[in-house]
Amino acid sequence: MQRGFRFKETSCSVFFYQVFLLNFCFLFVSTNLYSQTKINAFQYTSTKQIECKNGAVVSAHPLASKVGLSILQQGGNAIDAAIATQLALAVVYPGAGNIGGGGFMVAHLTNGKNIAIDYREKAPEKATRDMYLDANGNPQMNLSQDGHLAAGVPGTVAGLFASHKYGKLPFDKLIQPAIDLAENGFALTKREAASLNDNKNEFIKLNTSPVAFVKDVAWKLGDTLIQKELANTLKRIRDNGQKGFYAGETARFIVEEMQKNGGLINFEDLEKYTAKERPVDNFMYKGYRIITMPLPSSGGIIMQQMLKMIEQRNISKLKFQTQQSVQLIIEVERRAFADRGEFLGDPDFVKVPVKTLVSHQYLTKRMKDYDPSIAGKSSITKAGLVKESEETTHLSIVDVYGNAVSVTTTLNGGYGSRTVVSGAGFILNNEMDDFSVKPGVPNMYGAIGNEKNAIAPGKRMLSSMTPTIVLKNNKPYLVVGTPGGTTIPTSVFQTIVNVIDFGMNANDAVNKPKFHHQWLPDEVFVERDFDAATKKQLEKMGYKITNRGNIGRTELIMIKNKKIIAVGDKRGEDAAEGY
Ligand code: GLY
Repeated sequence: MQRGFRFKETSCSVFFYQVFLLNFCFLFVSTNLYSQTKINAFQYTSTKQIECKNGAVVSAHPLASKVGLSILQQGGNAIDAAIATQLALAVVYPGAGNIGGGGFMVAHLTNGKNIAIDYREKAPEKATRDMYLDANGNPQMNLSQDGHLAAGVPGTVAGLFASHKYGKLPFDKLIQPAIDLAENGFALTKREAASLNDNKNEFIKLNTSPVAFVKDVAWKLGDTLIQKELANTLKRIRDNGQKGFYAGETARFIVEEMQKNGGLINFEDLEKYTAKERPVDNFMYKGYRIITMPLPSSGGIIMQQMLKMIEQRNISKLKFQTQQSVQLIIEVERRAFADRGEFLGDPDFVKVPVKTLVSHQYLTKRMKDYDPSIAGKSSITKAGLVKESEETTHLSIVDVYGNAVSVTTTLNGGYGSRTVVSGAGFILNNEMDDFSVKPGVPNMYGAIGNEKNAIAPGKRMLSSMTPTIVLKNNKPYLVVGTPGGTTIPTSVFQTIVNVIDFGMNANDAVNKPKFHHQWLPDEVFVERDFDAATKKQLEKMGYKITNRGNIGRTELIMIKNKKIIAVGDKRGEDAAEGY
């Protein structure tokens, strides 16, 4: 491999790269790929930051970003690239990339239209409000998190087809790279190998048939992961469209899997599933137009609340991660998350006072008791745990035509329910845990809710995913999002504030330490490289500060002076590609 490599025939310069895999096997060239674009699935590099002129893709896995780039180079637009990248992630990043989960897409089209596509999972028709409570009314969180009963009706494939109407290339071209990666295999990164090893026992415990993710000896860097059953499922989708997943053989595999193992999803659930286009959440912040995901994600609303609560307070004067600026952010996060627990749920099922929640009057009132000299307190004492997990995944894409796409997609926990549909080779989500299984009981992210987010047949569980695009003079300026459960809206919020208020470049905005408060538990979670002096000052004020691992894996594209700067988060193997 040639070190210091540059893309030929492009204006793209590579700043950081790292050789991942040196297991020189054979060259993988997708049958339908443009001759210029060769993807070697067994020897590939990861680029953390690129600057280029035409188009860029940033996602959680180098191969997926390369697939997205190849689609852009073939004349596909950002929507095409987003579809192909998601499908590739379903193969090369099985911990969160998926066809058995759900997600959201926010896009700004070159004609000025903003769209939001909701392909969140739904509760099966046989789901009931108290399905995870035992005879004494106690929650059995293992049932909402592990195995077949934890799975909501998957939405991803419906979402891909719903977004495809905005694409340019035929669907078979977009899915072929994923088919090839599943069928021929690809070399595992070190982190992927370790992650599969960490989950081996869960895969064995939660599946009755052998799964591609388990082998006798431990996985290691450079090992080839082949997923034949998944390849066949992807081929059925290629050949039969949405019905290749929600009907026919794939549906039969899903329903058989459910029936054998006590799950609820039936043929009718699959047949009835539809993705939904919704009006974007759209608001101004300091002259920038922010477009983001509306309900059933809580992310857009609470991010809007947080930005609006700091807007009047000149946070840039307080400077990045000083005691004063961190305290202000903690207090707006506390208030926004308190509202999340109280008011938010699927708008198709419950009334949510969105207009009030984001109104100037309401938010001004909300901050009336904010006192910069005193640590706030979440008055309800029930606490949950914020787990460190890299579940969920995000991709940001821009193209040469002026389209921008921001997609966050998820299985919920890492590898979702850890159950693989036998015969179909894909992992099912454990998204049912994002419902409030019992009012006041925290879910796996420590988020609590009430009746608004109670389980009901066909209802979508509340999400935190916050795929976002920031427009400057009505043109894409930032395309941003991240995984991270309840830390998603706070990470996207802090990344935007880092750029707009603290004037950071794209790299710093992503990679500087992040912190998180979610009302309950009443604790501030900080990354390990968070400034020690600021931490001490906050503790002195009375805040409980807890160190934790990475917060999010933010994928950011910034377009500045016609230059595209794409950054993959240092916290993972995230990679940027462009031309
Ligand atoms: N499952 C994570 C979320 O939707 O917020």
